[in-house]
Amino acid sequence: MKTAERTKHGSNGSKTADALLRDAAHTLSRSADNLSWKGAWRDQASELLTYALGGEFEPDDAVPAAAARRFAKLVERRADGEPIPQITGYVEFDDLRLRVRKGAFVPRWTTEFLAQEAARRLRARARGSRAPVHVDLATGIGPVALAVASRVPRAQTHGVDVAAAAVKLATENARELRLRNAHFHRGDLYKPLPAKLRGKVDLITIHPPYIATQDIEDLPAEIREFEPIVSLTDKSRDGLWLLQRAAEGASEWLRPDGWFLVEIGSYLARGARGTVARAGFRDMKSLVGPLRLNRVIVARAPRG
Ligand SMILES: C[S@@+](CC[C@H](N)C(=O)[O-])C[C@H]1O[C@@H](n2cnc3c(N)ncnc32)[C@H](O)[C@@H]1O
Repeated sequence: MKTAERTKHGSNGSKTADALLRDAAHTLSRSADNLSWKGAWRDQASELLTYALGGEFEPDDAVPAAAARRFAKLVERRADGEPIPQITGYVEFDDLRLRVRKGAFVPRWTTEFLAQEAARRLRARARGSRAPVHVDLATGIGPVALAVASRVPRAQTHGVDVAAAAVKLATENARELRLRNAHFHRGDLYKPLPAKLRGKVDLITIHPPYIATQDIEDLPAEIREFEPIVSLTDKSRDGLWLLQRAAEGASEWLRPDGWFLVEIGSYLARGARGTVARAGFRDMKSLVGPLRLNRVIVARAPRG
């Protein structure tokens, strides 16, 4: 990153970066009810100050008045719940820099675990003569599909999402990252996939919208007001309806030895396992994700 516009403090009464960060961290901590990502207040403020300055800074740098005003506005937006990636326009995911805009789900770092588990299994299949095929259902702006495409260059990956804004961003991200093996389609689950992929898919991933409809109003403003509702809930009372449809439709697309990987909140892992088992999957495992916040359920395709 380039170096920020800055001077050493003490000359014209402008505040130091350190003083601004202290005030901002205090403001953010008092808005905690709006935010799902609590704590690390100073780190969050620091990300916003880097953005306001257009580059990195030292704690004792004097921040020019115009940049301090820009920073104050950004802190206000964050305190109202706006996710930092929506403010800055991008998010880091598995070493990739992805474009983000309001109207599409902001990928969480905890989902890197799903992408890594998928890439590991696909890489093992990339050693043979044919290119492995990956389908990422409910792809959003494409983090899992793009991370797989980047980590396993021989794989062909297809992301699907019902939201036009998400598919547009995923396509832009693939273009900017020059990942020509990542393809995106708009529609409901398997419907928009090319028919030639039937029975040819090595691995399906899905991080579905799983908040039960009656729990939406209890979410912090950061999620409730800034994420599209279709990315949060499938409007079912148990949060598992989309997953059930995805699991039931998978056998038509997977190879007989194909994998099905699901990211789900830890509190729903048991229900999700039941849903996947009822669709006929076998060899099921539940992997504990980072900070124990989520699980990745791994299963093998039903026998044909
Ligand atoms: C929790 S977000 C996950 C996005 C992305 N996979 C990630 O991890 O950042 C769920 C996504 O499911 C999409 N979605 C909801 N219903 C869908 C459907 N019927 N078919 C395809 N995608 C759907 C939403 O638009 C949203 O992008």
